[in-house]
Amino acid sequence: MQILVVGGAGYIGSHMAKWLVNDGHEVVVLDNLSTGHATAARYGRFVTGDLANRAGLESLFARHTFAAVMHFGAFSQVAESMADPARYYANNVANTLNLLEVMHAHDAPVLVFSSTAAVYGEPETVSLREDHPLRPINPYGRSKRMVEEILEDYGKAYGLRWAALRYFNAAGADPDGELGEQHDPETHLIPIILQVAAGKRSELALYGDDYDTPDGTCIRDYVHVLDLCAAHVRAMEHLLAGGVSRAWNLGNGSGFSVAEVLSVARSVTGKEIPARVMPRRPGDPARLVADSAAARQLLGWETQFAELETIIHHAWYWERRRR
Ligand code: UFG
Repeated sequence: MQILVVGGAGYIGSHMAKWLVNDGHEVVVLDNLSTGHATAARYGRFVTGDLANRAGLESLFARHTFAAVMHFGAFSQVAESMADPARYYANNVANTLNLLEVMHAHDAPVLVFSSTAAVYGEPETVSLREDHPLRPINPYGRSKRMVEEILEDYGKAYGLRWAALRYFNAAGADPDGELGEQHDPETHLIPIILQVAAGKRSELALYGDDYDTPDGTCIRDYVHVLDLCAAHVRAMEHLLAGGVSRAWNLGNGSGFSVAEVLSVARSVTGKEIPARVMPRRPGDPARLVADSAAARQLLGWETQFAELETIIHHAWYWERRRR
């Protein structure tokens, strides 16, 4: 099958392209390299291009018959979205609309879309199911929720078959050490901790230890990037087989506090990893844990790398290789 991976030079998209090529698919990676890296686009045919360029998209779709599109190409930093919402709505919403219009014009019927736990906003339950209220509290989460709503309308009116995959905390790296997380600036907990372990940073700024959690630090549901890729394949196959279009949560269902992540990272790396407690980071909920029963039961999604030790071990292997 020909599959388009938008944002395939980014963290999750690059792992996806590798997976699909290894599965025997013909992959085209489209990425504008605004946050992705040409060195990460190692699998498939790499096309440098921007979703804002409608003519470029038209020409790409005229040259290929994509059985499915996977769309990872978005900005994803909460704080940045609060400082510069226009950038988020333009790229995450308006540019996605360009993609949808071109897909519609070229009869490309299947889209697997990268959504986020940020569509829920402040959690009202211990773990989040897909029917939890959707009240995003920042422009990033709102931009993703807006696209989900557009997908619902495109599905009803034009027959688009879609899956919105709501990732919790994507983490880990390609076990081969070939691909991994490389954001600039890096804001995510595990890569930052590992940069401290590698001597690239002096200490971890631990944002708040006075939350209403057992050890006072925030709890998150870390899910391995390859398990996210596995879910994309399941969702794509489900849609190609005529399955229902909907949103799916992707997480392991177990929460780890920042202090626990730090402790596991110290044991995996054998490094001291100094940390200093700092004030809370605005917009951080105390606890975000997925209920992914739907993806497990209805898509048959199974996680292969659910252990936090494994996730950190793979991320550490990548961090050391890229030094
Ligand atoms: N943290 C620190 N120090 C750091 C970085 C993070 O203490 O240097 C803490 C954060 O305060 C938070 C936890 O580690 O409690 C995890 O933070 P991340 O930045 O790694 O991840 P988030 O949970 O903030 O973000 C993730 C996704 C977003 C998504 C969000 C949903 O990366 O895309 O979940 O709320 F929007």
